Amino acid sequence: MIGTAQGVRIGITGLGVHVPDKVMTNEELAGIVETTDEWIQERTGIRERRIAADDEALTDIALPAARAALADAGVDASEIDLLICATVTPDMMFPTSSALLADELGMPNAAAYDLLAGCTGFVYAIAQAYGMLASGLSRRALVVGGDVLSKILDWEDRSTLVLFGDGAGAVVMEPVDRGGFIGFELGADGAGGEFLWYPGSGSRHFDDPSSYVKMNGREVFKFATRVMVHSAHEILEECGKTVADIDVYVPHQANKRIIDYAADKLGIPSEKTVVNVDRYGNTSSGSIPLALADARAEGRLQDGALVLMTGMGAGLTWGSALIEWTNGRPR
Ligand code: ACO
Repeated sequence: MIGTAQGVRIGITGLGVHVPDKVMTNEELAGIVETTDEWIQERTGIRERRIAADDEALTDIALPAARAALADAGVDASEIDLLICATVTPDMMFPTSSALLADELGMPNAAAYDLLAGCTGFVYAIAQAYGMLASGLSRRALVVGGDVLSKILDWEDRSTLVLFGDGAGAVVMEPVDRGGFIGFELGADGAGGEFLWYPGSGSRHFDDPSSYVKMNGREVFKFATRVMVHSAHEILEECGKTVADIDVYVPHQANKRIIDYAADKLGIPSEKTVVNVDRYGNTSSGSIPLALADARAEGRLQDGALVLMTGMGAGLTWGSALIEWTNGRPR
């Protein structure tokens, strides 16, 4: 799916993030599985990640992120009429985490549902919120992206354990008087689904009773490097922009090597590329909002900046969003 905003201005007017307190370093992981700090840093660029406490579920980390986004926008929870929560690790299948969050936050007028698109969840969710807002069905949306992948990883499998971390982010989306989203490109390829999957997590039964994330790292690496570049080219062409127009590149934070490869192939210089995978690992749906928050903290999200976000992940799925950043919201 690919399309442009056709002049309907919907922007991000609030941004908030939250990560669990517990930092887990590569050295600590080396005490759990057979790995080394050197191997992890060299292959992934990750130094440490956040890990949720035993009693910390998705909504526990998503709630502070959502509150921060609302405060940032200066919006009261009751003014939100759409809450989409992108996650593959909801508290439970139902009630949905979005319904729980809407209740906790006090959003009696909000439609609320979870969206499942692997690590591309956040990009899918902002595209969907865009559609609802642009059509006039929704007036103000809260999009949450977050995961506690530590809960569904096999803590004996070094090939997946070292890659992921927990974290969440949220954005308020609403009509803006300048800037805003320019276009989206979203895709999926179920044929590659088994390269990154979580068998036993749904209604299909498997002989192998274990229920953990499984991954073919090399295949995911090949897929990721291909779609990160392709999706960026597609959306730029669709929106009549070039790589040179991009001010800030916010790729999904899966692996520093994937980010470097994509940025290099696209010709986006490192000073325009946001990287925080070293501190958080791959937080799945939390990754892009966490990277946006870092970019903003570093003063990189200037009013009018053209920001390209590209995600990819389980499904297999991928997606890009292009936005002209607006600071402040219309009153
Ligand atoms: N520590 C030490 N050794 C390890 C570890 C580890 N944590 N994990 C694997 N190894 C070993 C393997 O067993 C293998 O040993 P062998 O040669 O004796 O068999 C060796 O290291 C090389 O393994 P490869 O898988 O070939 O290593 P590669 O260079 O491909 O790097 C990696 C592995 C980092 C997983 C890489 O393939 C990758 O980044 N893939 C993409 C993964 C990813 O980003 N997934 C998520 C994206 S989608 C989403 O966000 C949900």
